[in-house]
Amino acid sequence: MNPISSNPQIQSAHETHSPYIHPLPPEQRLINRRQVWAANRFWMEIDNMKTKRYGNKGRHHWYELLFMMKSFKWMLRFLGLYKWGVRNAKNIILKEIPLYFPNLPKAFEAFTILHLSDLHLDGMKGLENRILHSLQDRTVDLCVLTGDYRTKLHGFHKQIINSLKYLIDNIDSRQGFVGILGNHDGCHMVNPLEQIGIHMLINEACRIHRDNERILIIGTDDVHYYYTDQALHALEHDNEEFSLALVHSPELYDMASKMGVDLYLCGHTHGGQVCLPGGKAVIKHLNRGRKYYRGHWHYRGMQGITHSGVGTSGIPVRFNTQGEILIYRLHRQPVLNRKNCNNSSRQNI
Ligand SMILES: [Fe+2]
Repeated sequence: MNPISSNPQIQSAHETHSPYIHPLPPEQRLINRRQVWAANRFWMEIDNMKTKRYGNKGRHHWYELLFMMKSFKWMLRFLGLYKWGVRNAKNIILKEIPLYFPNLPKAFEAFTILHLSDLHLDGMKGLENRILHSLQDRTVDLCVLTGDYRTKLHGFHKQIINSLKYLIDNIDSRQGFVGILGNHDGCHMVNPLEQIGIHMLINEACRIHRDNERILIIGTDDVHYYYTDQALHALEHDNEEFSLALVHSPELYDMASKMGVDLYLCGHTHGGQVCLPGGKAVIKHLNRGRKYYRGHWHYRGMQGITHSGVGTSGIPVRFNTQGEILIYRLHRQPVLNRKNCNNSSRQNI
């Protein structure tokens, strides 16, 4: 099943206006672009390569970090704190957040978006049932998934896809599911994710229609490990259109704002996962935008939300932070505190 053609509510946004260019049929263009992307991503994955903005390349240090986390796990066990941390991680909270935009199309008043991020479904048994229990058969207008469906960086993904299929089959989203990849997700997961009904955006965009109006959704590949300039190009759009960007991490916050994105949704940091008392993160896993490691933030007229993650990675514990499921309700209204909007600010949610 191809969700681009099967879901009339979601429309691909790849269009050309040149009279000299006779494009291939949309699905064929998408396949070609995806093949080029997948070939590049595949080599970065097997080399454990991390590519940052401005051309910096190097190996990522996930495996060293994993070793440190395993040592930390044994220390927690020794101190008798491990079970407490696991209990904290399983205590996932549902939060409803109203968001206000002066330029939201009228038809999208009270539009609801369920945001799930960093599920890491292989990291916590039964997580999908916990999520469904929290949602209690609630209906939303759209569900967005901002990556990291698994914990492992390589290898099989069948179990993850099965768990995710069960999850989305039981979520009532009127206009479907839109997703992107995180730094823990492999390029070979895109097709299986689309087959279970998630409209994947890999440096691409789609439009959501309601009555006669529409909003644009842009989704990039992960930019923490696998940055390419195609992620920046994907953010370019007609500024007249209300736009929402899905990026796995907050690391493109400045460019997205420059390109006129209205709402930037991301995750990746898990809110720090293991924080000091008071919620101060010890490790943020961010090269840029470290200030925006969690919560609701503003940057030069753009609003952003960094999801604290539903699941956990490394070891299944949390301290002084909480897993969350977020539902946004969009409203068309002038933003009350203009000072916050024009400068840069962040608040916990
Ligand atoms: Fe991540």
